[in-house]
Amino acid sequence: MLDQVEEVASQANAELQKISSPEELEAWRVRYLGRKSKLNNILRSLSDVPIEERKALGARANQIRSSLESSFSARKDTLESSATVSLERDKIDVSLPGEPCQTGRIHPTTKTIKEICNIFVSMGFQVAEGPQVEWEHYNFEALNMPAEHPARDGFATLWVDYHTPTGARPMLMRTHTSPVQVRVMEKRKPPIRIIVPGRVFRRETTDATHLPMFYQVEGLVVDEGVTFAHLKGTLEYFIRTLFGEKLKIRFRPSFFPFTEPSAEDDISCVICGGSANERRTANDERRKCPVCGGKGWLEILGAGMVNPKVFEAVGYDPKKVTGLAFGMGVERIAMLKYGINDIRLFCENDVRFLRQF
Ligand code: DAH
Repeated sequence: MLDQVEEVASQANAELQKISSPEELEAWRVRYLGRKSKLNNILRSLSDVPIEERKALGARANQIRSSLESSFSARKDTLESSATVSLERDKIDVSLPGEPCQTGRIHPTTKTIKEICNIFVSMGFQVAEGPQVEWEHYNFEALNMPAEHPARDGFATLWVDYHTPTGARPMLMRTHTSPVQVRVMEKRKPPIRIIVPGRVFRRETTDATHLPMFYQVEGLVVDEGVTFAHLKGTLEYFIRTLFGEKLKIRFRPSFFPFTEPSAEDDISCVICGGSANERRTANDERRKCPVCGGKGWLEILGAGMVNPKVFEAVGYDPKKVTGLAFGMGVERIAMLKYGINDIRLFCENDVRFLRQF
């Protein structure tokens, strides 16, 4: 019996050396370590062996069994790490359909800024930018809004004092992009034709039409002989390019300290088409258009001819040059253009909203 055991062992070891595939290895395992293997049969029939032989035989058979087991797992490891097996295991079927990967997209605010700027760039405007934390001087004073000027009421914001060794100077989160007009005029001589996109801040309670932080685009043209006709023509071209040819556009007199005269531009309502008429609801109630409130018009920007006081603040001669200026809220334009009814959607990062642009 002992001879038999030794023979099985040497046979098993010899065969194991020749094995080169996982399938062969598995067959080997069944043959030599499986339930019906020779070694197992011998171990199972130990009780028939005379007691003197039994001890030595059992011990040797168990020893061989465990040595075969460790040779098996060693062989398995080498086989698995060999190049062919890992190639086989890791193979990629390039003909399978791929998993679609989620691509991001341009945020609707950014998209609208680009659309607005592109229209003006096509008219020869240059893009300029300025700081979001601004001196009081640029945000207010140089724009003809001295301290205590009532127009400042509409521009509540956060103040941040800038401390120097000689004392604190007033800075604030800019309330509009208009200060960039002043910064550019200080640095350059006319002719100037700029478009200024940027983030602005107001102390405002958030609701469907207000955010404490939003975007504006500002425009400024300064040259000899710039007239109100240029202002109207420029803005009309811009509005028609952005919103389409069919809209009605009107200029309405308004007031801004930094322009004189000042105007606001309205477009016919994108929802009721300017009919301004009440609409019948399903249960025959009469309802005003929810977007224009039944007025038929939507305000889209402020504009005017640059106030001579602003030219004086930057050292331009108001007898020599004139200028036109305008400013608009980006989210508001996007809301009108895409029919968005809540400004908060722009900063909620909800992909169901963002995916639509
Ligand atoms: N800065 C104004 C605002 O934030 C918008 C504005 C109106 C800008 C008239 C202008 C302008 O340049 O001429 O409400």
